[in-house]
Amino acid sequence: MHRAAIGIFDSGIGGLTVASAVARALPHEDVIYLGDTARLPYGTKSAATVSRYAARAMEILLRYPVKAVVVACNTASAHALPTLREATSLPVIGVVGPGARAACAATQTGKIGVAGTEATIRSGAYQAAILELAPEAQVITAPWPLLVPLAEEGWTEHEVTRLTVETYLEPFVTSGVDTLVLGCTHYPVFKPLIRSVLDSSFDGFEMALVDSADVVASDLTALLADRQEAAPERVGRRTFFCTDAPERFARVGGTFFQGGELAAVTAIDL
Ligand code: DGL
Repeated sequence: MHRAAIGIFDSGIGGLTVASAVARALPHEDVIYLGDTARLPYGTKSAATVSRYAARAMEILLRYPVKAVVVACNTASAHALPTLREATSLPVIGVVGPGARAACAATQTGKIGVAGTEATIRSGAYQAAILELAPEAQVITAPWPLLVPLAEEGWTEHEVTRLTVETYLEPFVTSGVDTLVLGCTHYPVFKPLIRSVLDSSFDGFEMALVDSADVVASDLTALLADRQEAAPERVGRRTFFCTDAPERFARVGGTFFQGGELAAVTAIDL
């Protein structure tokens, strides 16, 4: 098993923010990434549809020799994690629990904001996960749906994105959160822009911006060590698949994965 890969999937390029942290923490491991670009976005779909898409994406990943699966999509984690876990004997790691842990570790005041897709926010999964860890916490949530297509477009600095971020941040600033969970794996690429908008439009209002990537990477490191399945020392291979438009995925995805070029991306049939 130690030679098998870590399988990671998302609806698109967003999960590359998690894959990037995993590849950094575990350079010897092979990583197989699948972006389900044919069916993106997941975040506007019903719970039943998200579960069906996520099950199919994982099924495709499991055609390859993998030893653990990372559901690098908050929407799929929020709606489908138990179903996905039932479908395989391999460990399946979601991103909502790790994101909630990151938030609880960062907050000082217990006022935590959560931004995510419509489906993630509607699920109440973050609220539940945070309140389980910190019952006194106050959780304020809001959907940020437009940031998914803007990320897929690679518009991480664009004026349109700046205005969108300003509009989206306003309720979190007004309610005075000290920590904001970027509860969609497409959002961490906007961290520099969010900080800059907080500076320029909200008088330097301070909030910790957290996401699940590093916690997932350290959970995975501990899990592989526990199961004695860590890869031997070597350079891990990174393999990228998507279900539609591979050239586009490679072009935009490159900026999301360790800041470098994406190796060849192969289109996979649904
Ligand atoms: N990146 C995904 C998430 O973390 C979903 C984006 C989408 O497909 O709407 O929720």
